[in-house]
Amino acid sequence: MRHELFIYIVTGIVLGMMGCLCWSCEPIPLQKAPSVLGDTIPYPSRNSFSVEGIKLGRMLFYEKNLSSNRSVSCASCHVQALGFADATALSPHGVSGRPQLRHSPALINLAWSEKAGYFWDGGAKDLESQAFGPLRHPDEMAMNLKKLPDRLHKEGYAPYFKAAFGDTTINSARIARALAQFQRKLISADSPFDSYLKGNKKALNEFEIKGMQLFDKHCESCHRYKNGGAFFTDYSFHNNGLDTAFAEGHEGVGLGRFRITGDSADIGKFKTPTLRNISETAPYMHDGRFKDLKQVLIHYNIGIKKSKTLASQLPAEGLRLEEQEQQAIIAFLKQLKDEKFIKNKEFKTLSP
Ligand code: HEC
Ligand code: HEC
Repeated sequence: MRHELFIYIVTGIVLGMMGCLCWSCEPIPLQKAPSVLGDTIPYPSRNSFSVEGIKLGRMLFYEKNLSSNRSVSCASCHVQALGFADATALSPHGVSGRPQLRHSPALINLAWSEKAGYFWDGGAKDLESQAFGPLRHPDEMAMNLKKLPDRLHKEGYAPYFKAAFGDTTINSARIARALAQFQRKLISADSPFDSYLKGNKKALNEFEIKGMQLFDKHCESCHRYKNGGAFFTDYSFHNNGLDTAFAEGHEGVGLGRFRITGDSADIGKFKTPTLRNISETAPYMHDGRFKDLKQVLIHYNIGIKKSKTLASQLPAEGLRLEEQEQQAIIAFLKQLKDEKFIKNKEFKTLSP
C-alpha cells in the first residue's frame, strides 16, 4: 500500500514536471525582441517571419550564385566574425575587384533602422528593396536578375522556396523577402553592458563605468541607448565633423544625406552607426578612414572639422578629454562586444 502511494506521488511529480517543462518550452515567437531593445522586432505585414523564410534567407546570404561570376555572396563583404562588416575601408570584394564607394557597414539590429532607411545616407527605404542594390551593382554582385530564378532552380532551391512561400516559384521579390527576414534576425543584445543594464552591476569594472559616464555626456545624444531601446544609434543623420568640405564624388556619395533629400542642410550628414560590437568592426566611418578606436577618439578629441552642417552637440575645437578619459571610453566601448552574436551558429553559412 505504501509502495503504491509512493508510485502515485512520484508519477504525480514527474507529470507535473513534464507539464512545467512543456509550458516553459513553448516556442518563443519569431518576432520577439530582447528586452533591452523593446518588445517586438519591427517587420512589414507583407513580409512577416517564418522559420522557413529565415532559413532560406540565410542560405541566400551565403550563396555565391547570386553574383554574375558565382564568386561573391553577401557574406563576402559582411562577415559574421566582424559583426557583418568586412575589415577593409572600401571593399574590393565584389565581382569587379574595384573598391566600393563607401565602407561596408556592420549588419546589426537592422530591423529598427527602417525609420532612417538603409545605407549610410538612408537611400534604401526597406530591407526588401535594399537587396537589389548589391545584387545588381556592377562592383558588387553584377547579377542579371532575369537569369537568377533559373540558376537557383538548377541549384536545387525550389523546395526551399516552396517551404518559405507556399509554391516553387522563384523570383527576385521572394529572394529579397527571404534575405530581409534573415537580416531582421541579426540581433545583438547580449554584451557585458547589456548584463549591466539589466541590473548586474558587476558586469562592468570601475574604469568602464567611468567610460560609460563620459560616453553619456559626450556621445549618447547620437549613439543612443537610454530612451527607446539600447541601439547605440538614434537612427538619424549627422555631420560629426570629419571634413571641412564635401566633394560630390561619384554619384554624389560624398555629400551624404543630401544625395537623397537635396536639402543643403543635409550636406555631409551620414547615418549614425550602431556601436554594438564596435571592437570587431574596424575600420570606421562611412569611408573607413580610421583604423582603430584610438583614432576615432583622437578625431572627437582634437580632429573635429568645422563646416556649416557640423552637429551642434560637437564643439568645433574638439572634446579635449584627458588621455585617461579617452581610454576609459574605449574600455567601455569594448564591453559592447556580444560573443553570442559573433559566434551564433544560426547566422553561419548554410547550403541547399
Ligand atoms: C562588394 C561588397 C558588398 C557585397 C557583395 C554586399 N554588400 Fe551590403 N554593403 C556594402 C557596402 C559598401 C554598403 C554601404 C553602401 C552605402 O551606404 O552606400 C553596404 C550596405 C548594406 C546594407 C545597409 C546597412 C545599413 O545599416 O544601412 C545592408 C542591409 C546590406 N549591405 C546587405 C547586403 C546584402 C543582403 C547583400 C547580398 C545580397 C550585400 N549586402 C552584398 C558592401 C557589400
Ligand atoms: C552629433 C552626433 C554624434 C555624436 C555626439 C557622436 N557621434 Fe559618433 N558618429 C556619428 C555619426 C553620424 C557617425 C558616422 C559618420 C560618418 O561615417 O560619416 C559616427 C561614427 C562613429 C564611430 C564609427 C562607427 C562605425 O561603425 O564606423 C564611432 C566608433 C563613434 N562614432 C564613436 C563616438 C564616440 C565615442 C562619441 C563620443 C566621444 C561619439 N561617437 C559622438 C554621430 C555622433
